[in-house]
This record gives sequence, structure tokens and C-alpha cells, in this order.
Amino acid sequence: MNAKGGCGKTTVAANLASYCASQGYATALFDYDPQGSSTRWLKTRPEDYPAICGVAAYEPPKAGITRSWQLRIPQQTRYVIRDTPAGYSGIELEDRVHESDLILIPVLPSVIDMHSTANFIRDLLLIGKARARGKQIAIIANRTRIRTRSMIKLERFLHNLDIPVIAQIRDTQNYVHAAEQGIGVCELAESAAQRDSAPWEHILDWIQQNDRENDSFATPVSRAMPFA
Ligand SMILES: Nc1ncnc2c1ncn2[C@@H]1O[C@H](COP(=O)(O)OP(=O)(O)OP(=O)(O)O)[C@@H](O)[C@H]1O
Ligand SMILES: [Mg+2]
Repeated sequence: MNAKGGCGKTTVAANLASYCASQGYATALFDYDPQGSSTRWLKTRPEDYPAICGVAAYEPPKAGITRSWQLRIPQQTRYVIRDTPAGYSGIELEDRVHESDLILIPVLPSVIDMHSTANFIRDLLLIGKARARGKQIAIIANRTRIRTRSMIKLERFLHNLDIPVIAQIRDTQNYVHAAEQGIGVCELAESAAQRDSAPWEHILDWIQQNDRENDSFATPVSRAMPFA
């Protein structure tokens, strides 16, 4: 989640879903964005790649179908990943926080994005009551090239709030090429995938360390990956 548009919510959701699926976990991808970007991505996914159960949660249920029937997923599903639209606030933000165990916030390294992310984190804590509800929050620095001054400022702000930056995603056309094919970067040809697989391993590690069903719940903030 992030109220800021274009920061990489769909890219993170799709790549994380494909990474989880490729690791053998039954995975579902919920699309709450009426733009339907992750639903479109999933529709182009080749059949011979690990399956992901897609749910177009932005669609109103069809006549005669309940909302819970519309959102049903296979019982063995291990991970549900939710792609949310920009501009989230109020009751929708509250609902998504309530439904989720963990919250990942992609951030672009720009002053504008940093400010709106700081405001979004405030909403997440005040309106979404994320901390009060025991939800773990982590930042994913997206499209990083260098450690910009604004990123250093954001890091300081997050440090004060005890929110870890758990991964850095490179700015690379690999994400664009993978998205066009309905796959994740880790599913690209080996040479391309190798360079970009590290953040997805870090993110899944963090998820598993913080997983409520996992014995090792409660991860110390010190396990967060520092900026290089
Ligand atoms: N690390 C990256 N490297 C290169 N391109 C990227 C990267 N991350 C995202 N992009 C590109 O940036 C654009 C916006 O990304 P994305 O759609 O994931 O953002 P979003 O937060 O979901 O946007 P929206 O708020 O509209 O839903 C897309 O064209 C995507 O392919
Ligand atoms: Mg999106």
C-alpha cells in the first residue's frame, strides 16, 4: 500500500506473487484497484508458469453472488497479496489494514514521494490503527539508483518510527519486460533474473519472520536490511 500513485504497488504485488508461487507456495493476488493492472498482468501469465489465483476485488459482486463468494480462494492458499489503488484513505484503508497481517509500502526515492509516504504512514497509524492492531509495516525502496539525500531523510524518519526498509529494488527495464509477459523478474531468463532476485528473497524472508502462523513471529527491527 501507499497513497502515492506510481510508486510500484502493482510491481511489488505481481513480483511478490510470482516469487511466492515459484517457491511452491499456493498464492492468491487480490486486485483492489479499478484500473485492474494486476488482474491484467495475471491474465497474460503463461499457463506453464506456477499458477496464481487472481481475484478482481475491485469489481462489485455479480447479481446473486455474495461478496464473500466473490472473494473465495482455494483453502490451501498460503499467501494472499493485495494490490491497492493510489489515494487510499478512510474506511477502505481501515478495511485493508484489518484484513492484512503485514503491510508493505513501496517508496520512490524522491522528495515528493517521501513526503506523501510520510503522510500515508501517519494515516496508516492513525486511521488504519496499524500498530494498535499489531500489524507489521515495512518499506521497500523502489527504483533505487543511488542513496539520494531524500532517501537518507526518509530513512531517518522511518528509523524514528521503527519501520524497517527491508529491500531495495533496482530501476531496470527487467520489471517492464517481465510485466508485459505476465511473469516476475525472478522468472525471466537466468542472467536477468539473477541480478534482481535478491530483494524478493529479502521480502519473503521478512514475511516469514513476521508471519503470525510462524513460530518465530516478532522480528526485531535490527533484522531489517540496512541501505548499502
Ligand atoms: N523498479 C522498477 N524499475 C523500472 N520500472 C519500474 C520499477 N517499478 C515500477 N516500474 C514501472 O513504473 C510504473 C509504475 O509502477 P506500478 O504500476 O507498479 O505503480 P503503482 O504504485 O501500482 O501505480 P498506481 O498508483 O497507478 O497503481 C510502471 O510502468 C512500472 O512498470
Ligand atoms: Mg497499481
